Amino acid sequence: MAEDVFKKLVAHCKEYGFVFQSSEIYDGLGAVYDYGQNGVELKNNIKKYWWDSMVMLNENIVGIDSAIFMHPTIWKASGHVDAFNDPLIDNKDSKKRYRADVLIEEQLAKIEEKINKEVEKAAKRFGDAFDEAQFRSTNARVLEHQEKWDALHNRFAKALNDGNLEELRQIIVDEEIVCPISGTRNWTEVRQFNLMFSTEMGSTSDGALKIYLRPETAQGIFVNYLNVQKTGRMKLPFGIAQIGKAFRNEIVARQFIFRMREFEQMEMQFFVKPGTELDWFEKWKTTRMSWHQSLGFGAENYRFHVHEKLAHYANAAVDVEYKFPFGFKEVEGIHSRTDFDLSQHQQYSGKKIQYFDTEKNESYVPFVVETSIGVDRMFLQVLSASYKEEEVSDASGQKDTRVVLSLPPQLAPVKMAVMPLVKKDGLPEKAREIIDDLKFDFNCMYDEKDSIGKRYRRMDAIGTPFCVTVDHQTLEDNTVTIRYRDTMEQDRVEISKLRAIIAEAVSMKSLFAKLK
Ligand code: GAP
Repeated sequence: MAEDVFKKLVAHCKEYGFVFQSSEIYDGLGAVYDYGQNGVELKNNIKKYWWDSMVMLNENIVGIDSAIFMHPTIWKASGHVDAFNDPLIDNKDSKKRYRADVLIEEQLAKIEEKINKEVEKAAKRFGDAFDEAQFRSTNARVLEHQEKWDALHNRFAKALNDGNLEELRQIIVDEEIVCPISGTRNWTEVRQFNLMFSTEMGSTSDGALKIYLRPETAQGIFVNYLNVQKTGRMKLPFGIAQIGKAFRNEIVARQFIFRMREFEQMEMQFFVKPGTELDWFEKWKTTRMSWHQSLGFGAENYRFHVHEKLAHYANAAVDVEYKFPFGFKEVEGIHSRTDFDLSQHQQYSGKKIQYFDTEKNESYVPFVVETSIGVDRMFLQVLSASYKEEEVSDASGQKDTRVVLSLPPQLAPVKMAVMPLVKKDGLPEKAREIIDDLKFDFNCMYDEKDSIGKRYRRMDAIGTPFCVTVDHQTLEDNTVTIRYRDTMEQDRVEISKLRAIIAEAVSMKSLFAKLK
């Protein structure tokens, strides 16, 4: 059912100019996507919400924009050349390749699903008297599934932490996991595969340099730590934020823009005094969760997921997960990265990368807490939460279904559509006058084609919060009909009031005010 909604959402993204398959006329390129006329607006608004919440609201956070190409030794220092690997396994019959950890995670999710089904069934049976906590801790079937889940989970976590590839394969064999394509259990060994794309800089006769397309934007921040700290006279704690493209040769590239090979990240590295990093980690967990929840998609749809296996650089790590139509999945990672990256760059570059603490009268390498979120994944999250099919009835009482994107108005690609009731009698000119007056404030759209009803539906489908209709009365008294996307209610208002009504709804101030 939820998967059905997801398919519709993907089709909707194409039909309404949000997301297109890259190189579509050449049959596409795997896991690479382009953003269309509405997609790019929504994406820019998401980036602005993030950027301003970091750089504008915090006087100790500044932004940078570093190059995608960087010195190759950076990736040696960061550990990505040696350790940025996925454990892969092939099915010998279908010749399909999978991430071994993902196959096991899916198995865990199946067991979780069984538990949830038992709970749902019981909740229906017992109605208001249902005590979920008690049921989960006493029901025999739930306990049996839970025991299985715990055992598998522990075995899996240990194999990951030990980097034990044979054990990962053994788990897949023991759990009788089959290839979704061939349906067989004819698996190869598990091997490591590096996710970085590489290319060459300079001509071969010069001796070309092998360089990598960055797999995260964070390293561009670390290698500019000294530049920013010195030129900005920054004092600890302070942060550097960046939005930019990242590239990963993902093997399991699935679920539309959830996992792409070229994507965009919004990352912030917060530099702190050693020993204070876990307090800052907790603080950023709270702040980032409130950033997500301020959008109003329901607190119950978010959760933290504590990492089973800490990355080579982290001493604490958590994901913010959202309940997508295909289950709870990571949108953002928050990591306490210790002094790993700066120390490594200090060692590999031979340059001192330290902070002089005037209070302590000593120099040290700062510790880092990172918040890292994918723009595209956030885009998918916002669309998944906003896409709705609603039963409505028209003026004559006829039932109809409308597809509406109930986007937060602050993120909507178009804020206001202006529609002349008819294409004559000076109404189009009046409509254009309104747009000319407001187009410096908001993204406005003019639409005169088809019936007003059809025009409203088109605007609902791209999430436009306000539709303004210009009719003959407008020419007499300078009033228009304003129609609200979510309630579909209409009001008659003076044209001179439009700016204030729309500004109030689309200003990011109301989102920022909710942040912790
Ligand atoms: N600097 C830390 C870092 O890159 P990560 O957990 O690998 O951490 C952070 O990535 C975020 O980037 C993820 O939470 C996700 O939103 C996004 N992301 C990672 N890989 C992605 C991919 N292949 N496609 C789309 N988004 C991705």
